[in-house]
Formats: sequence, structure tokens, C-alpha cells
Amino acid sequence: MDVKERIIQLRKTINHHNHSYYVLAKPEISDFEFDQLMRELIELEKEHPELKDPNSPTQRVGSDIDHEFRQVKHDFPMLSLTNTYSFEEIQEFNQRITKLLHGERVEYVCELKYDGVSINLQYKDGLLTKAITRGDGTTGDDVTPNVRTIKSIPLVLHGTGYPDQFEIRGEIIITRQGFERMNRGRIETGEPVFANPRNAAAGTLKIQNSSLVAKRPLDCFMYHIAGNKLPSDGHFENMMAARDWGFKIPVHMTRCRNIQDIFNYVNKWEQERNNLPFNIDGIVIKINSYRQQKKLGTTAKSPRWAIAYKYKTLQAVTRLKSIDYQVGRTGAVTPVANLEPVQLAGTTVRRASLHNADQIALLELRLNDMVTIEKGGEIIPKVVGIEKNYRQPDSVPIKFIEYCPECGTKLFRKQDEARHYCPNETGCPPQIKGKLNHFASRKAMDIGLADATINQLYDAGLLKNVADFYALKKDQLLHLERFGDKSADNLIQSILESKKAPFERLLYALGIRYIGETAARKIAGHFRSMQAISSASYEDLIAVEDIGGTIAESILQYFSRQDNLELIQKLSGHGLQMSVASDRPVRTMKLNGLNFVISGVFQHSSREEIKQMIEINGGRIVSAISGNTNYVVAGRNMGPAKLEKAKKHGIPVITEKYLYSMIKNP
Ligand code: IVH
Repeated sequence: MDVKERIIQLRKTINHHNHSYYVLAKPEISDFEFDQLMRELIELEKEHPELKDPNSPTQRVGSDIDHEFRQVKHDFPMLSLTNTYSFEEIQEFNQRITKLLHGERVEYVCELKYDGVSINLQYKDGLLTKAITRGDGTTGDDVTPNVRTIKSIPLVLHGTGYPDQFEIRGEIIITRQGFERMNRGRIETGEPVFANPRNAAAGTLKIQNSSLVAKRPLDCFMYHIAGNKLPSDGHFENMMAARDWGFKIPVHMTRCRNIQDIFNYVNKWEQERNNLPFNIDGIVIKINSYRQQKKLGTTAKSPRWAIAYKYKTLQAVTRLKSIDYQVGRTGAVTPVANLEPVQLAGTTVRRASLHNADQIALLELRLNDMVTIEKGGEIIPKVVGIEKNYRQPDSVPIKFIEYCPECGTKLFRKQDEARHYCPNETGCPPQIKGKLNHFASRKAMDIGLADATINQLYDAGLLKNVADFYALKKDQLLHLERFGDKSADNLIQSILESKKAPFERLLYALGIRYIGETAARKIAGHFRSMQAISSASYEDLIAVEDIGGTIAESILQYFSRQDNLELIQKLSGHGLQMSVASDRPVRTMKLNGLNFVISGVFQHSSREEIKQMIEINGGRIVSAISGNTNYVVAGRNMGPAKLEKAKKHGIPVITEKYLYSMIKNP
């Protein structure tokens, strides 16, 4: 055998073993034997440079020549998939497809949705010619030298039957084990760790020195093929053919005949995904037939013949870059974590809440730590833990701020409270803005002003406290950006309107700490005027239903401050409702679910007043006594037949006075 023949034979043998090892995960020879073959080939190629071949397995080690990536246009755009999160949406997808295909039978293929970086590979005459990243979907980076180092991607195709020219797409991933190993190595060498396998794969693919890429544990799963003269009209069948050509096609893909099969697949992998050696973030459902795929077509962004069902990732790991301190309406200081962006439940997360200083201490958190974040019910995710194993050598202990970042006032922390507060209630900008926004909000005075406009008025110096709303003049507004004649008129009008807001809403609007809507309603209903509330004692306050010590103290504290009393004076001067209007009783739900029959003539109120009183406290008036009646309110001259009937049903007959007591004290 001459050298050329031996070289060709060695390449074939090594390619075969690479495939057995990296694609089939079934090695046939030992690492030692493999290394022997490789060494021989390297030697021969060195001695015979004229026989060099870029597709030789020896070339998978990459090159250390740095190169910028060239931008290349994709032959077919790389679309993304529509994401769904519920079975209903899958059902809707199925219905849509069936309708668009006029009831034709469809066969689906379900696959795992690999959580990595997508790649587009081009093959010509059985050789890998180009590898392009997704980029913006139309143009991507030419990363061919890097991709050639990935052992599970064939440089030379096996077998026969592949088209002269085609594209195959897939996902470059790093297994969880490969990722852990890689990060451990990085910690040893003092390099920053990657947050997750996907970031690690993406970062690796962008390295401009392919010999470094070759050292990383990249793998590639193929999921889509496009080209003329493919062996079959079926996606599934073509993927099987591609497997014979040497590509890694995961075994988890399945044909599904109906929606139930799809649901079963979704459920199965939701349960078992943690046992997979790599991460998935959902499953992909595709129509098998190319003919039907073509009929359905694509939208600008995604094919109509496929969707993704995403599993809810509720946790992610990322790096804590810095901490901001936000001052809220009440002066409470909330630390907010600035994070290296990470995907979580379908959105990119850059910030997460840290609650308070105690939590930071409890987690022993440091800047540059890798933290676990979690999405709960709130919009902003929270930091729930740290990855101590990944602690970075350059991590910095966190020292909670001592002074307000907004106004410089020294922060304080009440005993038993985890939060720090800025006490400068009337001089700290976010506190003032927060109070103004709260005051104008829908459930408070309902002035109908966007937060941004209020901030604009504050910044223009027109609003310093909530009483200033009522001193605003039209011509002041006209000087401001975005205000015209009409909008200025409207604002002045709605401010005027707001003066009529009932007392309970004003009490809520003041933004006294711990006084929400319900507490405001109860306190207003009990004391009935600002005067009465401001002179109430602690005992008076806690005597009100559902009002405890915290609220009572907060009220006492509020009314002990001269500036607050002056503010209320001003509001009163502007004509706001400082007491419960006698014709506007406070609503409660004390009679919720109770049915009343009213009968007879009453001493203190008219029948109509009694009826209203029941209704505004949540009760219902029914005309005749039945088993569903809860009470009969009886006045003078109630008919004996009615009395008899009430007795028969065992329904309590009550007086007007008793009804009042029910509303006051159930
Ligand atoms: S099919 C036109 N199949 O998900 C075909 N995509 O949101 C579109 N992905 O960019 C892709 N696993 O990176 C397909 N089994 C799979 C997939 C998969 C992961 C990724 C892919 C794509 C993204 C779409």
C-alpha cells in the first residue's frame, strides 16, 4: 500500500471511529488505539504536505490564527418558532393546521427543543463547505473553522443518497457534564465561569481562534434539512437518512398521529428532562410532510407548520454585576441586583430583587457571585440563592449603603424590620413623586394622570406636595412640553372633579404607611371625619375592626407631624372631602350573601333608606319570604301572614335597630 492509500485509509478509519464515539456514543476501540491511528496520520501528513486535506480528521484541532468572522447571507432565512406555553395553544395550533389544510390528515413529529445555539451547515458533494450562525436570521457569522472542530459534525458524509447540495440545521450544545467540567477548569485558571451550558456554547462558538474551540466540549444535534432532491417528502424520514450520512440525530424524536400523542410526549419529557445529559427548554412540534409544510407556508418570522412548547423555566443562574438601591414612595430602600442578562421563562432578565440587607447577609452574597434567580408571581424575579462552588476569586463583599442614594439623608432601620428607610419623607424626590403618583392614582383621587406626567410636573417645580395639584393653573401647564390647550383644560377639570372623591378615598390617597384601601374604608367608616381620626388615641384606633397596632401607630405618627397637619389644612382649604358625607354611606360587605325581606313601617328611616342600607353593605332584598331568606326586617304593622311564614321557615325577624347593629358589628 502506498502512502496515499494509507493516508486515505487512516482518514476513513478515524472518521468511522469519531462517528462511533461522538455520534453513536458506541466506541469500538480504546482511546489508546484511536490515538495511535491519529498519530500515524499526523506523521504521514507532515511528511507529505502535498497530500494535505482540510477535511482530514487531523484538521479538527483547529488553527490558532485569529480571524474576524465574515458575515454571510443564508440561502434560506433562519426562522424562529412561535412559542406556546399551554395545551390549549397546542390544540389551537392543531385546529389552525387542520383548517388550513381543509381537514387533510396530518402526521406530526415531536422533538426536543435543545437549549443551545442554532447553526446552519452547508454541504456540497458530501463535504462540509460552510457553517453559519443564525445571526439576525438573514445573515450570520461564518464560523466554519470553529464548527469543523466539532467531532459529531461530519466533515465528509458517509454512505450514499445525499443530495449534491443541501443545508442542514441544528443546535450546538454543551452537555451539563461538559459544562461543569469546563467551569471547574475556568475557576482553576481564574477565568470567569459561564452561567449555563447555552452561554458556554454561544461564547465558545464566537472564539476567534479555532484551536481553543477544539478544546471545548461542543456537540451538535441536527433538526432540519433543506435542499432539492431529498430522499423523502417526510421530515422524519429525511432525518433518518441524515443519520445514515453521519449526522447526530437524537433518538428522542417521535411521530405523533394525534394531539393526545403530542400531549403524552410533552408530559413525558417535562418529567424526564432532568435525566437528559443536556438541557432542553421545551419541545418542538412539526408537520411531517413537506408538501403540507409548503402549503402552510411561513409568516415573516416563523413557519406555520411548527411550534415550540416551552417548559416553564422558573430558575436560572447568572452573574451579579452590581447592586442599585431604589427608594420607594414610603422611603423603603430596596436593593436591586443588576445581572448579566439571562433567559428565564421566555424573557431576558437583567434585574432581580434582593429584598433587603438581611437577605444579602443571609445569602452571604458578593458582587460577581453566580446567583440563582427565580420567577414567582411578581414581574421582577428575585435572587434566591448563590452558587458557592462558582465563587469568583474577584468577588467583593457587599456593604449595604448608609445614606439615601437620592437625597443623602442617613438611612434608618426600625427594630424588628428588615428594611432600611430614608426618613426624609418631604424632601426625598422619589418619595415625593411616589406620594404624588399614589395620590392621583385611580383607586385614590383618580385624577387620571400618567406617572410620567406627574414626574414632569414635579421636575418643573409645579408639584411639591399633593396639595399643589389644587393650585395648578392652566397657563403654568401650557408652558410644558406635551401640553396643549385641550389637555391643560382636561387636567384642570379632572383635578377639580377629584375634590368630590369620598373621604375614604382621600384618606387612602394620603399614603399613610400601612393604610391600604380596606383599612382606609374601615377607619373612615368608624371615625367619619379627618378631625376625629387626627384626635383618636391608640386605644380608639385599635378598637376599629381589623385595625391593629401597626396601623394605629402609623396613624398616630402621621398626625403627630406638623407638616402633615398643614398639608391636610391646605387640602381642606381647597375643598376636599374631610368627612363622610351624610348622604354617602360607607360601603361594607357585612351583609354579603344575606337575603332580606322588608316588611312594615319604620320609625327612623323610610323603607327605601333601609333597602339602600342593606344593599350598600352587600345584602340583597327579596320580595317574598322563602327558604332562601335569611332575615325579615320588621317595622310596625307587619302582616300576620308574613310573620307566620317567617316562623315556619325558622327565619329570624329583626328590628330596624338590630339591622343597624349588624352593620356596625356583625
Ligand atoms: S426547528 C424552521 N427543531 O429553537 C425550523 N428548532 O425558536 C425552525 N431549536 O432557532 C427550527 N431544538 O435554535 C427546531 N428540534 C428543534 C429545535 C430547534 C432547538 C431552536 C433553534 C431555533 C429555535 C427556534
